[in-house]
Amino acid sequence: MGWLTVDEASCRQDGICVAECPRRIIAMEQGGFPLVATERERFCMHCGHCVAVCPHGAVSVAEFPREACPVIDDTPGLGWEPVVQFLRSRRSIRVYGEREVERPTLQKLIETARYAPTASNSQTVHWTVVSGREKLTQLSELTIDWMRGVVAAQPATAAAASMFRPLVTAWDGGTDPILRNAPILVVASAPKEASNGLVDCTIALTTLELAALPLSLGTCWAGLLQAALLNAAGAREAVGLPTGHTAHYPMMVGYPKFAYHRLPERQEPSITWK
Ligand SMILES: Cc1cc2nc3c(=O)[nH]c(=O)nc-3n(C[C@H](O)[C@H](O)[C@H](O)COP(=O)(O)O)c2cc1C
Repeated sequence: MGWLTVDEASCRQDGICVAECPRRIIAMEQGGFPLVATERERFCMHCGHCVAVCPHGAVSVAEFPREACPVIDDTPGLGWEPVVQFLRSRRSIRVYGEREVERPTLQKLIETARYAPTASNSQTVHWTVVSGREKLTQLSELTIDWMRGVVAAQPATAAAASMFRPLVTAWDGGTDPILRNAPILVVASAPKEASNGLVDCTIALTTLELAALPLSLGTCWAGLLQAALLNAAGAREAVGLPTGHTAHYPMMVGYPKFAYHRLPERQEPSITWK
């Protein structure tokens, strides 16, 4: 059996899989069936488009047998208005309730985020999940320690004066302005050499953030911690990413303490039509 198999009884030889293959490695000779020449298999990026696009269920590839690819259920048909409401109702959550987030729920979220697109379908995003308010508070403290050091060393810089000093003051006053007493932190990372690691992780996190909504979870990008991860070895070590990985953003996760009731407005989009 070849690496791409075609059920000749169901194949209509319509050439859809040939046209859709992003790497153009599927060929179909006149009167024949789709096939991938052995020497071209190495160009495949394992995206599964050939299996997914065939309307007749005729195509399978070794790692995506068609039985393992569920048929798309398009009957509910989400309308434009509900989609806009859904997207606009995502908020950055900074006040979390006491309820803990169960591991199966986090697993479910991450399982969904893995379907986000990655450059060349590389799928190199790694998730480090830090659980427990104590551990998160320790990460906040390491971030504040780093900021305190910057304020002491370069007190006149804009970052030190306008951002870091108020955050250090807030921390000293007993609040956590870094990770906001969130119960969970997820950190998306990719190998340093991944050509689009930052973008891949960002899209994965955005997917996770949206998938969190129907689970009643809230999220918030943790940019202040990210600054510490890039600049302070102590914070990096405390998170403990896989060797050779770069953190491409931490995100807080938890159950929001408060519900939101309105959709805040944003600036008009900046567009150049050409
Ligand atoms: C890259 C990035 C980094 C962020 N870092 C932080 C952060 O460190 N702390 C925080 O409270 N909010 C952070 N935010 C949240 C933004 O402040 C928030 O998205 C913005 O105010 C709009 O609010 P909304 O997300 O509820 O629409 C970050 C957002 C992004 C996209």
